[in-house]
Amino acid sequence: MRLVQKSLCLLLVVTASLALLYLHVWLPKSYSTVDLRNRPDQAPEQLLGEPLLGPSNKFAHIPFRLKEEIVELLPRNSCLCEVAPGGKLPFPKQLFSHLYSLEFASALGPAELARLRSSREQEYQSYRQRTQSPADQLLIVRANSPLEYPAQGVEVRPLRTILIPGLSLQAASSKLYKVTLTATLGTLDVAAVVEGVKAQGEGETCLSLSATQLDNLNRQLQFVTYTNTLFHPNTADTVQFATDGHQASFTIRIRHAPTPKLYNPGTPGDGGDYNISALVTIATKTFLRYDKLRVLIASIRRFYPTVTIIIADDSQHPEAVGGPHIEQYFMPFGKGWFAGRNLAISQVTTKYVLWVDDDFIFTPRTRVEKLVDVLEKTSLDLVGGGVREITGVTTTYRQKISVQAGGEEGDCLQTRQGYHHLLEGFPGCVVTDGVVNFFLARTAKVLEVGFDPRLSRVAHLEFFIDGLGVLHVGSCADVVVDHASKLKLPWQKSESEKQYAKFRYPTSGDSSVSVKHSLFYFKNRFKCMTSN
Ligand SMILES: *[C@@H]1O[C@H](CO)[C@@H](O)[C@H](O)[C@H]1NC(C)=O
Repeated sequence: MRLVQKSLCLLLVVTASLALLYLHVWLPKSYSTVDLRNRPDQAPEQLLGEPLLGPSNKFAHIPFRLKEEIVELLPRNSCLCEVAPGGKLPFPKQLFSHLYSLEFASALGPAELARLRSSREQEYQSYRQRTQSPADQLLIVRANSPLEYPAQGVEVRPLRTILIPGLSLQAASSKLYKVTLTATLGTLDVAAVVEGVKAQGEGETCLSLSATQLDNLNRQLQFVTYTNTLFHPNTADTVQFATDGHQASFTIRIRHAPTPKLYNPGTPGDGGDYNISALVTIATKTFLRYDKLRVLIASIRRFYPTVTIIIADDSQHPEAVGGPHIEQYFMPFGKGWFAGRNLAISQVTTKYVLWVDDDFIFTPRTRVEKLVDVLEKTSLDLVGGGVREITGVTTTYRQKISVQAGGEEGDCLQTRQGYHHLLEGFPGCVVTDGVVNFFLARTAKVLEVGFDPRLSRVAHLEFFIDGLGVLHVGSCADVVVDHASKLKLPWQKSESEKQYAKFRYPTSGDSSVSVKHSLFYFKNRFKCMTSN
């Protein structure tokens, strides 16, 4: 009998511990769910009560006169890539840059266009939903509100708590003062309880505070806290703040502070000069031009004996280019121009990367220190130099890039030669959007933009178009690299030069032009461009 009792007891103990173990291991911790699906209904316009410039019956009787010259400047619902007529001046074309326009849709057949158009629209809408934050939405502060609150600049890290600054009520005298605060992605609470104030909904999404004394209520408002409870970094909570007959909204931005990516600049030289070897890596891409590449490397070593040189190589019969501080990366044959730039730049470990073509030659005028100085002392991310052709002409290839909003057809890209401003403190330097193939850039910023590997042959400005809004670009005409001649007559070319030319300079019927146009059409959502 005792034996039966004993084994029963043992069985109970074992079952109970197993059950506990099961509960501990298998029962999920109480996670709340988050809905990160795209919600097409969440258009930013929804926060606005009435359209800002829509028909307002209240003021319909008041006459006005439009100022055409100002209306012209405002954004429209659509854009056109029109080249103004009357450009037929009695001067030779070479004297004046020729303005032209391109329609990207014409590179595509009608069936393909219809298919690309609808899938482009779908991708575009989901991109917009991913990149928009409630902190970008328009909020209007209504007139005469007794509510005081932060208009912007309140920020909380995901799942953390902050005091909400700047809340108060400036009401006329009354028997009872009452405010409510409502959040959607987190909860509200008070960090201290003030005498004479009644609080309701502490630790919930809706907090009400009431008091018979206004001062007590305002004291209490100084202790209101917000805790983010829904993990969704890089968004914002729109908090409603209300009192009798008045309502206000403000946003609390929810995000991780951006994690810096810093590079050790090394120790400066005796004269306080920059240590170029510690700060700069020279990157290039080569294809079938080892003779030119060797000349480039020799010229670099005359001035910068220890700077690292990274070479991306997609030649058919690769040759190793040995030497100290040289890294050569072999790629599949003919992988292409931007793929090579991407690979080279991905291997850079210094703060700055200097891009050069494989047929450039350093001279005493190729003063990398000067470009480093510009990036060290300004907020610019990338600064181009000049390229001196064998003819003696120096090219800086400065381009201004802008995009006009279009409708459903896509936006309009505009590129123009020139620049926006002179750069204060750096004579010879200007601020622009695109530069020549010889530039120094912050490595982290170039990696952020990247070189689209789909652009295999003729491509350059595309990088700056992708970088518009990310890269702050300058250009200095007095830092110059030489360009080995490419103005050779065809019968003087060697076999490898002929093959190179075949890949590098396609004729107009070549497919790489239509690849470029369809990337503009789909990836960048442009319908057309004008350029000069
Ligand atoms: C410059 O940097 C390189 C690479 O980090 C280092 O080897 C060299 O000693 C530095 N030169 C000076 C003068 O500090």
